[in-house]
Amino acid sequence: ETVCGFAPATIANVNVGFDVLGISLSTVGDRVEVTPNGTQQNKITFIESATPLPYAVEKNSCTVVIAAMQAQLENPLYVDVRIRKGFASGSGLGSSSASSAAAAFAYNTLMGNPFSLEELLPFAAEGERAACGSAHYDNVSPAILGGIVLLYQNKPIRLPLPKGLHAVSFFPNIEVNTASARSIVSRHVSLDIVSKQVSAMGAFVSGLYQENYDLLRKATKDFLVEPSRKILIPYFDEMKEATLAAGGITFGISGSGPSVFALAESHTVAEHILAELHKIYAGQGIETL
Ligand code: HSE
Repeated sequence: ETVCGFAPATIANVNVGFDVLGISLSTVGDRVEVTPNGTQQNKITFIESATPLPYAVEKNSCTVVIAAMQAQLENPLYVDVRIRKGFASGSGLGSSSASSAAAAFAYNTLMGNPFSLEELLPFAAEGERAACGSAHYDNVSPAILGGIVLLYQNKPIRLPLPKGLHAVSFFPNIEVNTASARSIVSRHVSLDIVSKQVSAMGAFVSGLYQENYDLLRKATKDFLVEPSRKILIPYFDEMKEATLAAGGITFGISGSGPSVFALAESHTVAEHILAELHKIYAGQGIETL
């Protein structure tokens, strides 16, 4: 028996919630297949990926996740794993999370669902740790649960999606490694900035519940990490200006970048924003709606 799991690309942080907020996209993602191999070890038998990924089971996020699940089960099946990446690693769209989440989902299904979806999150976060050294939950949670998810003490809170809300991302086609993008974020932040960010997060959540697009437009701002990270992304300020001029609710860095994202009130505005971003990148970027 072979089970195939799919998990989508995700936008982490969403400007207001560094490491604690993420939203899932619908069009692209990774597929992971697991097949019992009758042995006492897991094996990666196939990887389709634009960038090389490790076949070593203790390094690959998928098998790290599966091994963490097996450690909690009495009679785990060991598996051959086939991985098909649907988008680039190092894009800032939760590439390692999509693989980790798809592996967790596929293996859980194969074993007859011993874990709930929510219980899969810590396992998938171990895949994140293997990929970038930090077990943050903001990509794996929306990758597994869908929609927009806020983490409170690493436990997911699903937030409502206002009618018409669209998230788009745009990949400038350069690689930014998550570990280095994390290392440039300042560890010391002034009280004034923390206060502004806390207020923005509260207003954002309130805006989602009220379906209040004006409030979302005002509140969805990143005072914490955008200033230090945007220098890694060519034309960041030009893209932001064009997005807001095109009617976008907000524009920012997707996860640790280099992908950027925008929120829009409708499909039409979302398409308009992507057209503007393509103009700035002269057709060199890749989009996801
Ligand atoms: N929240 C994480 C970061 C996401 O911004 O570093 C990385 O995928």
